[in-house]
Amino acid sequence: MRHLRVPSDQTQVWLHRCRREGWLSKASVLQLDEGMRGIPLLDEAPDDGDERWQGHNIVHREPKQQGPSHWTDRLPDPLQALPDDIWPSAYEIQGDVLMVKLEANVIEHQQAIAEAMLAQLPNVRIVCADNGVAGDFRVRELTPIASRDGNLSTRTRIREHGMTMWVDPSEAYFSARLSTQRQGTLEQVRSLRQQLGRPVVVADPYAGVGPALPLLLSDPALVSGYLVGDLNPKAVDLLTLNLETWSAKHVGNRSPSLVVCDDARAWQHDPSRTGVADALLVNLPHDSLTHLPTLLPILNHSERRLLRGWAIIERAALEQTRGNLIAVIEAAGATAESVDVEEIKGFSTTRCFIAFNAILAWE
Ligand SMILES: C[S@@+](CC[C@H](N)C(=O)[O-])C[C@H]1O[C@@H](n2cnc3c(N)ncnc32)[C@H](O)[C@@H]1O
Repeated sequence: MRHLRVPSDQTQVWLHRCRREGWLSKASVLQLDEGMRGIPLLDEAPDDGDERWQGHNIVHREPKQQGPSHWTDRLPDPLQALPDDIWPSAYEIQGDVLMVKLEANVIEHQQAIAEAMLAQLPNVRIVCADNGVAGDFRVRELTPIASRDGNLSTRTRIREHGMTMWVDPSEAYFSARLSTQRQGTLEQVRSLRQQLGRPVVVADPYAGVGPALPLLLSDPALVSGYLVGDLNPKAVDLLTLNLETWSAKHVGNRSPSLVVCDDARAWQHDPSRTGVADALLVNLPHDSLTHLPTLLPILNHSERRLLRGWAIIERAALEQTRGNLIAVIEAAGATAESVDVEEIKGFSTTRCFIAFNAILAWE
């Protein structure tokens, strides 16, 4: 089939022109050599060399037929006859792992669903049934259904804010939805760095696989050291792997550079993990506020310090939460210079997800 060879940034212009003139075929646009695209042409379109092509050449290539637009179009014919609304309408992808919640009425078709999804989504390697989150570690119960290459591992690499990160949804908590919060953490830590006039030490005792860190570590003048950990040993394995990758990318020695597998509430008993941090992240949303009094000893009790955390609270308690935070800060012997409580999103009709930022000052 004839294709008009155009630079990729002119694809839309030529698609529009060819469609308007009645020259455009129904086949898909081809990716040609670097930076060039092939617009599929009907027989009615002018010959190569016609001045209407404005100097662009015509090449001959096999047509690329347009595939089905949705994975359900790839289900076997007998299943296509079933009502559309029985099929899952949503799924989540982390790296090359696709997780889909399956209602009881489609479990018997799970193999066909997974194969249709693999056929439709070339970047997906494995399709898993998502049976929900379990336990204190907030880890998903996943059942692999089909794998493109036989590899049933759910360990995968994702990209966020230009940095790569190992995750494994069946072993450690990770949520891509919180990426804007990580950007917010960067801004808060930058502001603290400016106030202190020097790079800061960050503590993240509920770090999971460490998604808060790559943005912070990418600026060598921002963070001088870190203390990070998690109670889930599998999260700590991934965290360690990620830190090796990020440290290799951004040279510079950081001190301290501590990674532990421990209950965050136990940090207060270890002299190497207390009185050290300038900024403390608290991300255990169901328990952040109750754990808080045991965590403040991690901060260095002088000058200004940043406390940033996330919590799930009753919406009716939004105002009271600010008061509670001030009380916890004062009980630790500090003054609350500022305390902001911001609702991130509705969690349920009565509860909400909040981020809190406080600047603590010690005399
Ligand atoms: C909501 S996740 C947050 C993880 C990570 N900060 C993120 O943003 O993806 C909470 C993490 O705390 C860990 N965790 C639960 N209880 C803990 C405890 N008592 N001490 C330390 N970590 C804990 C869980 O394993 C989980 O990785």
